[in-house]
Formats: sequence, structure tokens, C-alpha cells
Amino acid sequence: MNYTLTINGKRRSVDVAPEMPLLWVLRNELGLVGSKFGCGMGVCGACTVHVDGQAQRSCSLPISDVGTAKIVTIEGVGATPVGQRLQKAWLDIDVAQCGYCQAGQIMSAAALLQQTPKPGHEDIVSGMSGNICRCATYDRIQKAILNAAG
Ligand code: FES
Repeated sequence: MNYTLTINGKRRSVDVAPEMPLLWVLRNELGLVGSKFGCGMGVCGACTVHVDGQAQRSCSLPISDVGTAKIVTIEGVGATPVGQRLQKAWLDIDVAQCGYCQAGQIMSAAALLQQTPKPGHEDIVSGMSGNICRCATYDRIQKAILNAAG
């Protein structure tokens, strides 16, 4: 099936099976490999992207369910003020260790700050609870989000 998607502000067409998860469309069809495959079951958050501004797990979202929604990935989030502030905060305090989960972490953090511009500690803990980091960089992630919130 042919699908036309809006990804990071650009229209992109793909010809894939309806059940193909958005993650594989991004990575294998469009070369946007910043979103990572972790669990493939919607549990770890490594594949998080924005779908109409909401953080969503692209590993468990079939392409046929995307419709006309606007997709933003880690490759495009830096074009938003929140994304820019988060990327700077991430670098300033050197959040990443192995780095594998960090694209998903930043996408969840961006959705959190877009909805709650001045989050408290509890907002951050609950907003980020679906993103797992095997290196346990949670303290630095929380600090970077607070710094980015200003
Ligand atoms: Fe999608 Fe883990 S790879 S939630």
C-alpha cells in the first residue's frame, strides 16, 4: 500500500504493508535511524516519536493507523524551541552513557515540556516513567529536563 506521511515537516511517500510498524518505516524505508528498536513491544520507549505532538511508541504503531498525523522524530525535534533547549541541556551535562535510549528519552521529554512547560519533580518522574535506561542515567535526564524548562 502507498502511504504519504508528514515527517519532520516534509511529505514522504512509502509503499509498505499496512501492518508495518512506523519504526521500521522510519528506519528501513526512510533512513531515519535515530529512533531505536529496544523491546518491540511498547515497553522500553527507545522508539518514541511524536504523533500530532503526543509521545508514541513507533514500534507498536502500524503505518495504516498513522493517517494524516504529523510525525516528528529525533532528527526533527531540534527544529522546535523545546527540542533545541533539550538537546543543549543534554550536551551541557553529558546525559548519555551508552546513548541507545537517549533519542526516545529526548522525545518523551519534549512531549512533556510541550504539555507542561514548568514541570515539577513528580511531573518529570511520571512523564518519563515509560522510558527505560539500562545505564540508569535517570538523575541526569531529570536534571537536563529541569535545565531545559528554565
Ligand atoms: Fe518500542 Fe521498546 S522498542 S517501546
